[in-house]
Formats: sequence, C-alpha cells, structure tokens
Amino acid sequence: MTIVIIPARRGIVLCIVNQSFMRILIVYYSLTSNNELLAKELQEKLGADLFRIETRRKYTTFSIMWDILLNRTPEIKDFYHARNLYDKYIFVAPVWAGRVASPLRAFLLQEKSRIHDYSFITLCGGLPRQKDKLFKTLTKVVGHSPTQVVELSINDFISETDGHHSLGKGYEFQRQDLKFFKQKIDDFVAQQKAVTLAKAV
Ligand SMILES: Cc1cc2nc3c(=O)[nH]c(=O)nc-3n(C[C@H](O)[C@H](O)[C@H](O)COP(=O)(O)O)c2cc1C
Repeated sequence: MTIVIIPARRGIVLCIVNQSFMRILIVYYSLTSNNELLAKELQEKLGADLFRIETRRKYTTFSIMWDILLNRTPEIKDFYHARNLYDKYIFVAPVWAGRVASPLRAFLLQEKSRIHDYSFITLCGGLPRQKDKLFKTLTKVVGHSPTQVVELSINDFISETDGHHSLGKGYEFQRQDLKFFKQKIDDFVAQQKAVTLAKAV
C-alpha cells in the first residue's frame, strides 16, 4: 500500500493507493539469456508478473539471419496469462538488425489490441542511431507509441570494462555485469512506478 500526496486547490488530498490494482506484465524474449537476466532483474524491482515468449521452432543465429533477409515473423507458443488483467506491459528483447527481435514482433502483432500502455527496454549490442528506429517500429506494429524506449548497450559496457571485445554481439552477460547499468535500470523502474501511480490516482 502506498500513500500519495496530491496538491489540490484547497490544501492537499491524501490518497491511499493499493498498487496491486495496477498490474504490470513483463513480456520477454531472449535467445542467449542476456535479456532474460534483465527481465528477471526488472521483475524483482517492480514485483511484476513475467512471461517468456518462446518460438515454436528452435531459433539459431543462422535461422534468425534467414528470417531477417526474408522479413519473416516466427510462430510463437501460446500466451497463457489472463489477457485483461494487466494495465501495463514492459517488453524486453534483443535488437536484431536494428529492429526488435522478431519473436517479440510476433507477440505484439498477436496481442496489440489489448496493449494500451507499454515500454520497451533492451540489452543489445548498442549500434548507434537505432533508438529512433526502434521507437518508430514499435509504434507502427502496436498502433500507438511506447511510454519509454531504453537501450542498454553492451558496447558501452565492454569499452568501459574490457577492451578485448570490440563488438557487443555475442557477449553473454552475467548477473553482476548488470550493475554497470544500475542507474539506467533504476531510472527506468522509477519512471514505470511513477506512470503506474499517476494512472492509479
Ligand atoms: C543476428 C543478430 C543481429 C544483431 N543485430 C543487432 C543490432 O542491429 N543492433 C544491436 O544493438 N545489437 C544487435 N545484436 C546483438 C544483440 O542484440 C545482443 O547480443 C543481445 O544482448 C542478445 O540478447 P539475448 O541474449 O537476450 O538473446 C544482434 C545479435 C544477433 C545474434
């Protein structure tokens, strides 16, 4: 339970907000577990529910490349959460060829009519100038824009911590590596809570 103080014309209004009324679902896809780590970190910080997107056929880097070339969207396994339970969705997935990973795109296409409030966060290679593209693609696929798009760049992490890796692609994160992004993750979480509380009030 949270008490929120709202300035009003005559003094202030105290509001008791039961945060459990605002349900958040974190939906994630992860091929090599980087974004799974991130999704679980966010789940702990937000107390949200979690759903993992799985493709019907096994994905490899090779099949990803084919799908990118042919602009194909994979089939995904069923979404089993109660659909009308959630007020907010947080999507977590890698970026492939400058776009959100295609299994997440499949989920968005399938569920977009029920997605009203959403944000996207990714632990990705961190190629330059792709954030605008991600924002535009998400807006096009879902039909309205995300509240937040946040990139955590593996290239930034590597250049600060280990000069031996020149490319973010292929780097497998460990839980302690996430500390490098603590500020960005905390800002993201704070923003999610603020939006959620504002809506609850
Ligand atoms: C086929 C392929 C294409 C990729 N393209 C990009 C890209 O365009 N931009 C980027 O920032 N990272 C790119 N990456 C890096 C991934 O986003 C990054 O390794 C991510 O952390 C993997 O997440 P996962 O472990 O959850 O699957 C690519 C990775 C693969 C395998």
